[in-house]
Amino acid sequence: MTSEGPQARHVAIIMDGNGRWAKRKHLPRVMGHRKGVEAVRELVRSLKDTSIECLTLYAFSSENWKRPDEEVDDLMNLMRKFIKSDLPEFIANDVRLHIIGDWQSLAPDIVEMLEDALEQTASGSRTLAVALNYGAQAEIVQAAQRAAEQGPITEDSLAANLYTAGLPPLDLLIRTSGEVRLSNFLLWQAAYAEMLFTDVLWPDFTPEHLRQALEDFTNRERRFGGR
Ligand code: IPE
Ligand code: IPE
Ligand code: MG
Repeated sequence: MTSEGPQARHVAIIMDGNGRWAKRKHLPRVMGHRKGVEAVRELVRSLKDTSIECLTLYAFSSENWKRPDEEVDDLMNLMRKFIKSDLPEFIANDVRLHIIGDWQSLAPDIVEMLEDALEQTASGSRTLAVALNYGAQAEIVQAAQRAAEQGPITEDSLAANLYTAGLPPLDLLIRTSGEVRLSNFLLWQAAYAEMLFTDVLWPDFTPEHLRQALEDFTNRERRFGGR
């Protein structure tokens, strides 16, 4: 972190391209997802060397249920494995897990594992927010409903009812694999986020790519509508 300029506190990533990574290597899709989990692990390990206070990762969208059952099962099983294998490391590295999305309607054993992981990591100082069964439009509707029950809806009252309430404002949104769209991710939170789209496929994304993205961010001129 040698550069001057703004430092990103909250970075979110749309981890895309696992399927294409596998296809290029003539491997089954699940291998791409497996390699994708390894990329997540390395990234989380590198957090302590960055400015990031919160890393939010899009792991499973509310629209991903449309995929074939076999792929959904593979993804859920990888989730189970990942929580089990990496929870001790999160605790050791002072990482606090946070989940955004309708995760309580996932399989009961996953919900239980997540509840346990949330509890065990509650005192961590850096946040890893994982978007599971997440859709931004549903998030906004739910937040508006809750805000309305509490009083007049304002920008602040709505934001306070989003899954991201309490997290630092989103600074930088990265999407891998060359697609240039948000796919129903953090629509509200991205209002003034800087965007970075890279052709790198998610399984190939390394801590060095993240370091470069953070370096790039320090050179952005953020205006928030001013001049
Ligand atoms: C991202 O990779 C992982 C999830 C959406 C769970 P994809 O599976 O979308 O990979 P591509 O886009 O087909 O290459
Ligand atoms: C977005 O990727 C969801 C995640 C990365 C979890 P998708 O691959 O599902 O998005 P689309 O379908 O290409 O928009
Ligand atoms: Mg994709």
